[in-house]
Amino acid sequence: MSDVILRFDAVEKHFDATPAVHGVTLDIRRGEFFALLGPSGCGKTTLLRLIAGFEQPDTGRVILDGVDMARVPANERPVNTVFQHYALFPHLTVTENVAFGLRYQSKIQNSESRIEEMLQLVRMEGLGDRKPDQLSGGQKQRVALARALILHPKVLLLDEPLAALDVKLRKEMQMELKTLQRRVGITFVFVTHDQEEALTLADRVAVMNLGKVEQVGTTEEVFERPKTKFVAEFMGAVNFFDGFVVRPEKMRLRVTAVEGAVEAKVEGKVYQGGTTRWLARTMDGRLLTVIEQNDGVPDAVSRLKSGDRVWVKWEKRHEVPLQ
Ligand SMILES: Nc1ncnc2c1ncn2[C@@H]1O[C@H](COP(=O)(O)OP(=O)(O)OP(=O)(O)O)[C@@H](O)[C@H]1O
Ligand SMILES: [Mg+2]
Repeated sequence: MSDVILRFDAVEKHFDATPAVHGVTLDIRRGEFFALLGPSGCGKTTLLRLIAGFEQPDTGRVILDGVDMARVPANERPVNTVFQHYALFPHLTVTENVAFGLRYQSKIQNSESRIEEMLQLVRMEGLGDRKPDQLSGGQKQRVALARALILHPKVLLLDEPLAALDVKLRKEMQMELKTLQRRVGITFVFVTHDQEEALTLADRVAVMNLGKVEQVGTTEEVFERPKTKFVAEFMGAVNFFDGFVVRPEKMRLRVTAVEGAVEAKVEGKVYQGGTTRWLARTMDGRLLTVIEQNDGVPDAVSRLKSGDRVWVKWEKRHEVPLQ
């Protein structure tokens, strides 16, 4: 059995003149939690729709578990999709919603116990008789997940499924989703424009820009070792120098001159609870962002204010060269 469950081979998809997906070659591995990350309009949803069969590539191939999908209609592909908006049937109960997909499969035997099992898996046990309008946003998304997972897809496609939830619930659901993916062992392809969400959830991530994949790697590789300016910027590494970039949390502030530190002037600070984000302008006019952990008692650094002299220091090994 190949390690690769899903392969994009030089896939091209245009809408009129717009290249929505442009020369994408990409392997997604069996059982991994994979994130497609990028700004609005970069082609994430189009890529998912090509997998699901709602769109056809102009050229190139989508290969799912060794089978070229070119001639396989959407309803025969072994994938299911969870959308941003819940897409539940409002007139059906939770149980009926979860059971819905099973109607099209021959394996309806033991469906009651399978539904119960699924509801437990998504922590919705005991709520099977409710209608969607009696559920919270998070609960609706759990039902949508159960409805997709009960069909045992080879790949589960998730298009910003948590985007409509408030921040706190979203963080909770991220943890649940990660645990759930590990338990069921199904390959998840998760679309998001939120880099933090991609880092929290995914094993590997593809960062997309203008229909192209700019970089593929583990979350740590993409965060710590961005290859291009676009990826670096998108991952929040904002201190650009000629040929390299330094992440703001790798820089430190000093109130006195130390060897190798760059002299600057404080231009502003934003207290963020666990961290403080500082802006400092170097003597040659470069604006640097430094993130300091608020892990001690207030000190000379935390008392700095706009206009104060400061020295910014970082280690050579934190300079990441860009292509
Ligand atoms: N059916 C369509 N007809 C014409 N253009 C389309 C169509 N679907 C997508 N596009 C265009 O293709 C590009 C990629 O769109 P896509 O929906 O894949 O982006 P996305 O990364 O999912 O963005 P978002 O984060 O906003 O959901 C955009 O420029 C979009 O306007
Ligand atoms: Mg989209």
